[in-house]
Amino acid sequence: MTTKNIKILHIDSNNPLLIEQLKELGFQNEEDFTSTKEEIEAKIHNYHGIVIRSRFKIDKTFIDKATNLQFIARVGAGLESIDCDYATSKNIQLIAAPEGNRNAVGEQALGMLLSLFNNLNKANAEVKNGQWNREANRGHELDGKTVGIIGYGNMGKAFAKKLRGFEVEVLCYDIQENVADANAKQVTLKELQEKADVLSLHIPWTPETDKMVNAACLNAFQKPFWLINTARGKSVVTSDLVEALKSGKVLGAGLDVLEYEKLSFENLFDEESKNESFEYLRQAENVLLTPHIAGWTFESHEKLAQTIVDKIKAIYRKEEISEVEEKRVTGIGGFFFKTENPNEIKEWYKKHLGFNTDDYGCTFWWKDEKGNDCSTQWSTFKNDTNYFEPSEKQFMQNFRVHDLETLLKKLVQEGVTIIDEMQTYEYGKFAWILDPENNKIELWEPIDSVFQ
Ligand SMILES: NC(=O)c1ccc[n+]([C@@H]2O[C@H](COP(=O)([O-])OP(=O)(O)OC[C@H]3O[C@@H](n4cnc5c(N)ncnc54)[C@H](O)[C@@H]3O)[C@@H](O)[C@H]2O)c1
Repeated sequence: MTTKNIKILHIDSNNPLLIEQLKELGFQNEEDFTSTKEEIEAKIHNYHGIVIRSRFKIDKTFIDKATNLQFIARVGAGLESIDCDYATSKNIQLIAAPEGNRNAVGEQALGMLLSLFNNLNKANAEVKNGQWNREANRGHELDGKTVGIIGYGNMGKAFAKKLRGFEVEVLCYDIQENVADANAKQVTLKELQEKADVLSLHIPWTPETDKMVNAACLNAFQKPFWLINTARGKSVVTSDLVEALKSGKVLGAGLDVLEYEKLSFENLFDEESKNESFEYLRQAENVLLTPHIAGWTFESHEKLAQTIVDKIKAIYRKEEISEVEEKRVTGIGGFFFKTENPNEIKEWYKKHLGFNTDDYGCTFWWKDEKGNDCSTQWSTFKNDTNYFEPSEKQFMQNFRVHDLETLLKKLVQEGVTIIDEMQTYEYGKFAWILDPENNKIELWEPIDSVFQ
């Protein structure tokens, strides 16, 4: 498959390198940042790939219309806006780019934590307001604390990496076993809740993680603790968090994501965000709010795009490689051997083995997996033939190949001995090589129909 026939639809704007590099690789790119979902559904069958950020959900209806889609690439970390199971059942490959923004998330989580521990935002606002409150802004140190991470994947690991260098114990809880690395110890949720002074969420939004941090979860923590959420807003029950902030169970919270965000993360739900809990968060001095920007840096803008290009490229490179592999031998084309008396031998094979011989030997017909008629030739040669030279062996094998020219280029690169130039006849192309024991091999890109 060549990339030049692959049409990709981009429905969100991204770093320009994404389209520039895809174009250089030969892909056809079209941008449509304004059409509605329905309008895009009406034309999606024309495309082999779609690149999306978070504009709308890719559901069953959309996928059913995308009859030629080979991949969906999301320029972001998670794939929750895509019906992944259904897409996979339709052989559509899914691409995300958590490698592109995990460092950004790790740094923001750390930034929020340090800011909360040292009252940086509160103190900054006070000083700018003419207040000089040193005692009220006495801070806490991370040194000696225990940081609990729920969800130890790309983002969780990136945050734990940032914590190296602080004298903290890092614990992680994850539904998968053995996810820990040198930067965190995997524990049960119970142990994490017993020991943590800080909880940082790095789970995807799933039915299990929806409203996961509720009153019961918060109350199960043994010590008052700080909460950081850079994962998904809907994993935290905001009203329960507010109660915990009021009671002092939660000492402070850094929230980059909110329960009330729209799926596109571009704004808050107008009505939903007008409520008491959100008002409390807005006023609380020990709460930091940011508009879903943890993964949103100048560097990640570039890295996300580059990751997507690299992953799209990898899909098609893999296909190209497998096609080249396919272009090697596809079957046995013939078996030729030297004999004292070719005609007598032919007669023997005819009489005893039922070979349907002619002047050239015997042609066997068979069908390949696509139902094409294919032939294999068996022939006898006189002992003094020079057809097998430079090999001195009694026989020569002939193999059918899919694309002789491409294969010869590969064989040259691989250092295989090639004898003479490729020859073209009405029944196909031929070339000859030697194996390491000097057995001569005839390679044949056949045109079988000539023999029928
Ligand atoms: N704020 C931002 O800008 C931003 C940027 C990137 C990612 N994110 C969010 O961060 C979160 C993590 O992303 P990621 O790329 O690290 O995902 P990931 O898939 O690499 O890792 C998630 C981990 O959570 C674990 N997990 C899943 N369900 C769990 C459960 N019920 N209990 C415990 N562990 C569970 C998984 O096993 C996995 O190890 C996602 O919600 C993602 O959307 C936010």
